[in-house]
Amino acid sequence: MQLPFDGAISAFYEQTASEEIRRAIAEGDKKDILQPDFPYDRWMKKSDYEEALDALQLELVKLQADVKATGKRVVVVFEGRDAAGKGGAIKRFRENLNPRVARVVALPKPSDREAGEWYFQRYVRQLPTEGEIVLFDRSWYNRGVVEKVFGFCTDAQRAAFFRQLPEFEDMLVDEGIHFFKIWLNVGRAEQMRRFLARERDPLKQWKLSSIDVEGLNRWDAYSEAIRETFAASHRSRAPWTVIRSDDKYRARLAAIRTVLSRIDYAGKIAGVAAAPDPAIAGGPDIWND
Ligand code: ADP
Ligand code: AMP
Ligand code: MLT
Repeated sequence: MQLPFDGAISAFYEQTASEEIRRAIAEGDKKDILQPDFPYDRWMKKSDYEEALDALQLELVKLQADVKATGKRVVVVFEGRDAAGKGGAIKRFRENLNPRVARVVALPKPSDREAGEWYFQRYVRQLPTEGEIVLFDRSWYNRGVVEKVFGFCTDAQRAAFFRQLPEFEDMLVDEGIHFFKIWLNVGRAEQMRRFLARERDPLKQWKLSSIDVEGLNRWDAYSEAIRETFAASHRSRAPWTVIRSDDKYRARLAAIRTVLSRIDYAGKIAGVAAAPDPAIAGGPDIWND
């Protein structure tokens, strides 16, 4: 299948990638982590990852049983730049769960009708009822970041969004919804490596969109929009967990632990459902661009 932007990623890379990124990607084989200040020098070993993931998925199954039995409502928002690994983290989270209990919400761009609604309205419709876990693959935070970077909303709309956001999220928390916000932080070189891999692999090309291609030129605009978004939305009642996601394995484990460690459920093994690795997960202070 020919994509409309066939070859655009590699062309961009050839024309504009900095010496640093170019060298990192040219020299980097699968054993190399590209980001210079990443807290580990090697990828997590697959066997270690699989062992940890199995134990965590067993905890998730217990969480699911508890959510059904007690009528808990859980919302997890997954955010991050393109290719940060949102889809992959959500996939492992949900792998052994009943899709009717743990539902993924990945909304497309707003329809004409939705564009005329209160901005939060279409997300409100997707919120969980008792006994449900809803995993948002992107969320209302589009208005803070991608809509700003691409001019899909006006400045006034974005200002209103930031104004309404704290009250909106406080309402979720007041309702007793267990609410988590996870920001996957991918480095510039690793993002480029993933885009190049997607362009090359027919099984991954569908993940590339014109937003990804256009976004290549807009790294700094994204950074600015992300910074503003954290400033407006990292609050004690609804804090962000920022996860370094250059290492996908460590990132996925950290994402699952972020949720499991902060929610009670029957049969919980605290040593497994432990807090995420503090070198990998923290607050917006660990975010970097
Ligand atoms: P994804 O990264 O989720 O595969 P894209 O990178 O194509 O998707 O788009 C990023 C986000 O921008 C998506 O949530 C998409 O719905 C949103 N988006 C794309 N076009 C528009 C638009 N015209 N108005 C508002 N949002 C849009
Ligand atoms: P895939 O082709 O999907 O298996 O992805 C391999 C790529 O994922 C590597 O080239 C790295 O860029 C990246 N990666 C991220 N985390 C890891 C990890 N823990 N182990 C190996 N590769 C990883
Ligand atoms: C991701 O990898 O973060 C998501 O799957 C979305 C994407 O970048 O296409």
